[in-house]
Amino acid sequence: MTVRQIKSYGPDMTSTTTTLPAYDLTGRTAFVTGAASGIGRATAILLARAGAAVHCADRDEKGLQETAALIARQGGTAHTHPLDVTDRPALAAAVRAAGPLHVMAAIAGIMHTSSVLDTRDEDLDRVLAVNFKGVLYACQEAARSMIASGVPGSIVTMASGAMDTASPGLLCYSVTKAAVVQLTKTLATEAGPHGIRVNAVAPGWIRTPMTDRHEPAAQLQAEAAMVRHSPLGRVGEAEDIAHAVLHLASDASAFTTGQILRPNGGVAMPW
Ligand SMILES: NC(=O)c1ccc[n+]([C@@H]2O[C@H](COP(=O)([O-])OP(=O)(O)OC[C@H]3O[C@@H](n4cnc5c(N)ncnc54)[C@H](O)[C@@H]3O)[C@@H](O)[C@H]2O)c1
Repeated sequence: MTVRQIKSYGPDMTSTTTTLPAYDLTGRTAFVTGAASGIGRATAILLARAGAAVHCADRDEKGLQETAALIARQGGTAHTHPLDVTDRPALAAAVRAAGPLHVMAAIAGIMHTSSVLDTRDEDLDRVLAVNFKGVLYACQEAARSMIASGVPGSIVTMASGAMDTASPGLLCYSVTKAAVVQLTKTLATEAGPHGIRVNAVAPGWIRTPMTDRHEPAAQLQAEAAMVRHSPLGRVGEAEDIAHAVLHLASDASAFTTGQILRPNGGVAMPW
């Protein structure tokens, strides 16, 4: 068995060299949506640190530039694609421009809260467009690229613990995350014969700008509950999820497809 020299990372994302196999993405091209912030940014940085040339897409152009600068500062290669993931032609053009893809991490998403009775058509349409259609378009374009170039690639989608739990106010969000799971499993069955693996990551509560947008009191309450209910006794960070994506993106998970990985500190929401 060939064991390649690869880099591994501490919590501060600094690298050390080790002989753990298969996490090396040198020579591979990765495309990350939602790369301007939070989990997407941490993932883009980590994939670049693992050796991939990373294409970063997001509607937040300033955030994208910051991510690209962070990657460049660490010696990595980043390209930026300012776009809205609900714009299918723009996403298709960006994936084409990236060249043959080895990895797609479809991470862009939005939160929406409203009670069932207060949910309006426009709320549902917007969350579905970003959280489901945006992921669908990214998966379609990635799979087309991988099939056309004969690359046995890996597609990673971003679900959520909300995919199979119910919380007040989270109808729209949780419906879209359940839909992402069905997309992931279905595409895994269709793309597997081309050597393409498709898996989802379903994080629990993670400290990112998305969760920071909560009222400070609600934020503190959620984090305290996380610490109380997690056997690990801490809140999750974006880097925890980036490592889960790296695992699924790399050859370390070569026999894993159609699966949902749940980095949630051992907690099922709602607590
Ligand atoms: N933070 C959590 O607790 C948590 C838990 C489970 C799942 N998730 C999922 O992880 C993903 C990332 O969330 P995060 O916490 O890093 O949030 P975040 O708000 O920090 O990052 C989301 C990114 O997506 C981008 N984005 C949103 N809509 C877009 C669009 N239409 N086109 C292009 N880019 C768009 C934003 O600009 C932002 O950069 C989301 O899919 C979210 O649902 C987050």
